[in-house]
Amino acid sequence: MGKILILHGPNLNLLGIREPETYGRITLTEINHQLQKMAEHHRVNIEILQSNHEGDLLDAIHRAFHDTDVIIINPGAFTHYSYALRDAIAGVNIPTIEVHLSNVYAREAFRSHSVIAPVAAGQISGFGEQGYYAAFELAMGMIERKMDEWDVKKD
Ligand code: DQA
Repeated sequence: MGKILILHGPNLNLLGIREPETYGRITLTEINHQLQKMAEHHRVNIEILQSNHEGDLLDAIHRAFHDTDVIIINPGAFTHYSYALRDAIAGVNIPTIEVHLSNVYAREAFRSHSVIAPVAAGQISGFGEQGYYAAFELAMGMIERKMDEWDVKKD
């Protein structure tokens, strides 16, 4: 049984009321509920945290070092300038999937640059909440492959 850490950065607690033309009307509670259901179905542990504070996200990434196989993160605006978040992800060396609800490349120029992307396994951008669910499936694939490798090593 593996573990996935799901992190939502600043302002994502406002989903549902925040710029619905860009982010849709779904709330973070609804997204998290769906992710919980997927985790139960796949029998994988998940921890979900939303924070508006950079340090809280850093602490969660540091804690993950001990027990987490994959991190899924929507860093919100931190995406574009938080070297601290980038260094934390690089530091724990846990495969990380970067998710954005909106297509960051189709918006203001400053959103086209992610300081997280170079240390992420990959990025999903522009598919709304479906991006989180796709990231979850990708994370499951990573965990299953890791377990297969362990089995091969044991044989
Ligand atoms: C976002 C895109 C960011 O540019 C923005 O600051 C957010 C949300 C997204 O999910 O599309 O807060 O990460």
